[in-house]
Amino acid sequence: MRFQQLLHVRRLASAGATTLMRRPITTTTITTTSRTALAATYPAFATTVRTMAGSGAPIPELTEITDNVQRGNYATLTDKDVAHFEQLLGKNFVLTEDLEGYNICFLKRIRGNSKLVLKPGSTAEVAAIMKYCNERRLAVVPQGGNTGLVGGSVPICDEIVLSLARLNKVLSVDEVTGIAVVEAGCILENFDQRAREVGLTVPLDLGAKASCHIGGNVSTNAGGVRVVRYGNLHGSVLGVEAVLATGQVLDLMSNFKKDNTGYHMKHLFIGSEGTLGVVTKLSMLCPHSSRAVNVAFIGLNSFDDVLKTFVSAKRNLGEILSSCELIDERALNTALEQFKFLNSPISGFPFYMLIETSGSNGDHDEEKINQFIGDGMERGEIQDGTVTGDPGKVQEIWKIREMVPLGLIEKSFCFKYDISLPLRDFYNIVDVMRERCGPLATVVCGYGHLGDSNLHLNVSCEQFNDEIYKRVEPFVYEYTSKLKGSISAEHGIGFLKKDYLHYSKDPVAIGYMREMKKLLDPNSILNPYKVLN
Ligand code: FAD
Ligand code: MLT
Ligand code: ZN
Repeated sequence: MRFQQLLHVRRLASAGATTLMRRPITTTTITTTSRTALAATYPAFATTVRTMAGSGAPIPELTEITDNVQRGNYATLTDKDVAHFEQLLGKNFVLTEDLEGYNICFLKRIRGNSKLVLKPGSTAEVAAIMKYCNERRLAVVPQGGNTGLVGGSVPICDEIVLSLARLNKVLSVDEVTGIAVVEAGCILENFDQRAREVGLTVPLDLGAKASCHIGGNVSTNAGGVRVVRYGNLHGSVLGVEAVLATGQVLDLMSNFKKDNTGYHMKHLFIGSEGTLGVVTKLSMLCPHSSRAVNVAFIGLNSFDDVLKTFVSAKRNLGEILSSCELIDERALNTALEQFKFLNSPISGFPFYMLIETSGSNGDHDEEKINQFIGDGMERGEIQDGTVTGDPGKVQEIWKIREMVPLGLIEKSFCFKYDISLPLRDFYNIVDVMRERCGPLATVVCGYGHLGDSNLHLNVSCEQFNDEIYKRVEPFVYEYTSKLKGSISAEHGIGFLKKDYLHYSKDPVAIGYMREMKKLLDPNSILNPYKVLN
């Protein structure tokens, strides 16, 4: 039976079809009125994503109250301050009304009470804002696309929101060196489109690409679905320009891959979540975009088969492997139930893998991926699947993966965990957690970036409730820590995980982190209540 399926795949291949499918993926039709889904799926909706995106959960209470936050010793905004900023930026870029979209996080878990959003249009304006705020002791939260999942991008109390949205230009893309220089507020997808115009691509891709900013990506050291190929942003980002809390501009821009001139301070701003400085500009090494992209979406019967298939992918696809994602059946089914326009080519398996290859020779890559699938099926590790090189179909398969996180929050509240675990123990926690939560949870599922040992454990329930919360935390962090994993593989620490940092970070290191924070932000005005408790 399996062998017949294998033959089926191969027969289609030899017929010269660019798409090798067991069952054709039909063209997407939008049968949902979900604004979140539309915004995330169709870039045209992205411009209005600020008001549309986010969880279907109700608007939360103010976090300062629910979490009993002790407001820092900061000044309170006055009319004089607002007038000062209006003079500096112009009235249009000083917002004092309709601030909900800036105050509430994507997951509708955290809600601040900022009375002011500033939208500077240049590094000099960012510097002037920070200098003033530092002198006045006004707290500031830098905000990119507000797609962060750890409550880092919104105020906790009444911090001023510093939106980078106007710093949105791609300044240069050099086809010869592959180096692009871009302002921090540029939307990732726009940056990638611009890079593609000269045959390059941004080495970072994630489901929030239509809304997140490249500066937000750098500030969170975002991972996404290409890390297995290109590594993380500590490697791809060649330089940054950052404005410190004092208003000083730190020029760490570099146009070279190799530069060993002392301490590499740029790394401090990659992943520090706006607590050490405001990233205003950066240079990034962009690889050449691949001529041939193939995607396989396969069904497997056990996690053991998933691991065998991963090893086989690394061994047999080697240099062309560009993504290796896992989705369990509950995660997939939730997305399919919520978004009827998604169309999964296969169904009925406990695990699914999305494997992508990118290379320069279509025939070679197609042969390799077909061989890989065929061999996996012959060994009984892969049960069924679809392979396609057709760009439209490739996108449709990726859409399934990208909608998984949105499916879980479409109508529910979701506790989200983003952990690194040793591959052999990668999936156990999902079953353990399902048992712990019992009927309190509507869905407990796992998906994520298998190729990087990064699991997204998600626990959905009708609405936030303390009982389930206590069953999940701090258990999940203790479990991760015992396995020497990381409690944040890619989303960061933000507000939600700051009390758990010690599960993954040595106390001596945390001590030095505090010293660094004091050195760069002596009045602690930059993104307070985040990362460090
Ligand atoms: P924001 O959410 O606005 O901010 C995030 C943090 O960075 C905050 O602490 C903020 O203060 C700080 N910050 C933002 N801009 C700046 C700046 N210019 N200077 C200094 N600090 C700044 N994340 C992944 O890593 N991998 C994924 O695959 C992934 N997929 C996602 C899919 C979906 C559907 C969603 C909703 C989110 C996903 N995320 C993922 C999380 C999120 O998109 C990333 O963390 C992203 O990098 C945040 O970018 P942003 O511009 O929205 O930043
Ligand atoms: C993803 O990989 O889909 C993102 O990191 C978002 C999530 O964890 O849900
Ligand atoms: Zn992820």
